[in-house]
Amino acid sequence: MQSLKDQTLHQFDRIVVIHNVGSLGPMNQCTNDLTDINVWHDYYDLNVFVPAILNGVIMQIFNEKTNTEKLVVNITSLYGTKPGKYLSYYCSGKAAREMFFKVFAVENPEINVLNYSPGPVETDMYYEICNDLADKQVKTEFKDMLTKKTVLTCEQTVNRLLMVLKEQKYKSGDHVDYYDEL
Ligand SMILES: NC(=O)c1ccc[n+]([C@@H]2O[C@H](COP(=O)([O-])OP(=O)(O)OC[C@H]3O[C@@H](n4cnc5c(N)ncnc54)[C@H](OP(=O)(O)O)[C@@H]3O)[C@@H](O)[C@H]2O)c1
Repeated sequence: MQSLKDQTLHQFDRIVVIHNVGSLGPMNQCTNDLTDINVWHDYYDLNVFVPAILNGVIMQIFNEKTNTEKLVVNITSLYGTKPGKYLSYYCSGKAAREMFFKVFAVENPEINVLNYSPGPVETDMYYEICNDLADKQVKTEFKDMLTKKTVLTCEQTVNRLLMVLKEQKYKSGDHVDYYDEL
């Protein structure tokens, strides 16, 4: 960010910001056992506070004076709208982060904001769920998607994201899932 401050910001016609960072947090305790505030702090620091603050810093740099067109994509999840057992950190963090970007969208109507939910994608995170989630039924469902090869590749979900962005059929701030028909 410091290096950007030294640039001539006017040379950027447009910026694209993708908030992709994400972690699952511990997946072996139910809500009543989540009493260690340090674990909550660590989880929310990475998954909610850092994206929110980073976004603010970028918007302060590319402010109204630079007249830069802005696209901001928050990578969210179905689990930001649907509860999953033993996934309190992940579900609540995704919901909070998504709502932050919805507020950001209504406050900044000139900025194009998308909350994109990429579907089940074969990444390290996906294998973490297959290995560590305490909910055996959901764990089995995730493993089944691997064996049946119905899990998505990164390429598939990125192509869908590009299509969603190209078609522009969503309203700024909306949650759009890989499987949504727009
Ligand atoms: N995979 C799925 O099925 C799925 C479904 C719905 C939503 N998502 C969302 O998609 C996004 C990407 O997840 P993924 O599946 O690609 O998971 P992943 O393979 O575990 O990648 C996580 C990403 O977060 C970064 N990250 C994790 N911990 C970090 C830390 N302490 N400091 C800095 N960066 C850190 C990683 O950076 P490094 O590569 O540098 O480690 C990586 O870019 C996440 O927001 C996730 O919630 C994934």
